[in-house]
Amino acid sequence: MNKKQFTILGIESSCDETAAAVFTTNDGLLSNELFSQIQSHAHTGGVIPEQASREHMEKIITIVHDALIKANKTFDDIDTIAVTHKPGLPGALMVGVAFAKGLAFAGNKKLIGIDHLEGHVFSACIENNVSFPFVSLTVSGGHSALYLVHDFGNYEILGSTLDDAAGEAFDKIAKLMNLPYPGGPVIEKLAAQVQFQDFFSYPRGNLKDFNFSFSGLKTAVLYHLIKAQAYNPETKTFLKNDDITFQQQVASSLLVCIGDIFEGKVIRLFKKYPEIQSLCFVGGVACNKYLRQRLQTVCNNHNKNLFYPSNKLCTDNAGMIAFVGHFKAQNNEFSKLDLPVF
Ligand code: KG4
Ligand code: ZN
Repeated sequence: MNKKQFTILGIESSCDETAAAVFTTNDGLLSNELFSQIQSHAHTGGVIPEQASREHMEKIITIVHDALIKANKTFDDIDTIAVTHKPGLPGALMVGVAFAKGLAFAGNKKLIGIDHLEGHVFSACIENNVSFPFVSLTVSGGHSALYLVHDFGNYEILGSTLDDAAGEAFDKIAKLMNLPYPGGPVIEKLAAQVQFQDFFSYPRGNLKDFNFSFSGLKTAVLYHLIKAQAYNPETKTFLKNDDITFQQQVASSLLVCIGDIFEGKVIRLFKKYPEIQSLCFVGGVACNKYLRQRLQTVCNNHNKNLFYPSNKLCTDNAGMIAFVGHFKAQNNEFSKLDLPVF
């Protein structure tokens, strides 16, 4: 069947990245531009919603402009605007959605509201030819979930975040240890310095189902820090700022623990769904080379393929939003101009 031709502008503003991208039916992803607010939020150890919204408002025009220029397109070339409308920080989402609506209304373009998580789920398909059905292990700052994916836009959730997400666990534990936000890359760096050994055997939790719960792990690390006299809970201060060895050991034990949790769930899943040929590891945490390697070993042992996006498509981006927008446009799944945010 011949594909309908679309030139999509993707817009993403659900958390702390202001992003825009252009995707066309014939040439795929032509640009994927982004302004990250990480610097603004680094000193607070997390995202401040009000500040995030304000920064989106300041940056969005420049980023959309850059995405058009990089793609060698003008606004007239765009026929459809795909924008993240859920889930996310409401104020942050509203900046992107209101901007997209304004563009769609003024330029008489089509509008499509996109689920941010659906963007992550299909992000490994932008650069790779992944055959269906596949499993997506989607792990970001706000979500940890396993999806069974039957086709574009057709997937079921096998398990999701019961409390804290994996990225959140990295971020919160890093904050306890006075390390900068986001915690994931810093924890990975410290863990590599001690060759990813497990020093403290933090609890792996329940490996029997496909849901994820990391708040118990976070509490276990907190209690361990208090017991080791590394953290004062009354003053909320980390006391081993000069003890790099201790920091490396905590970081490494934490990463190995999360690696074991992913491995345990994925092995169980391969046994339950033998028809699955591939695993896609996506979301910001999928930038982690150690976790990629752990999952590569599991896939090799079970004769499955592992796919993960390049780093720019793992962390929040508009390329994945434009990509999902494209297959929705093929199915005529457009939104009205009263599109809400969630
Ligand atoms: O997908 P993402 O950019 O935003 C959300 O949708 O939440 O993911 C951000 C998360 C943060 O929690 C960050 O600590 C984590 O991804 N992250 C990592 C690494 N790089 C980013 N976690 C572990 N290892 C990394 N190298
Ligand atoms: Zn995300």
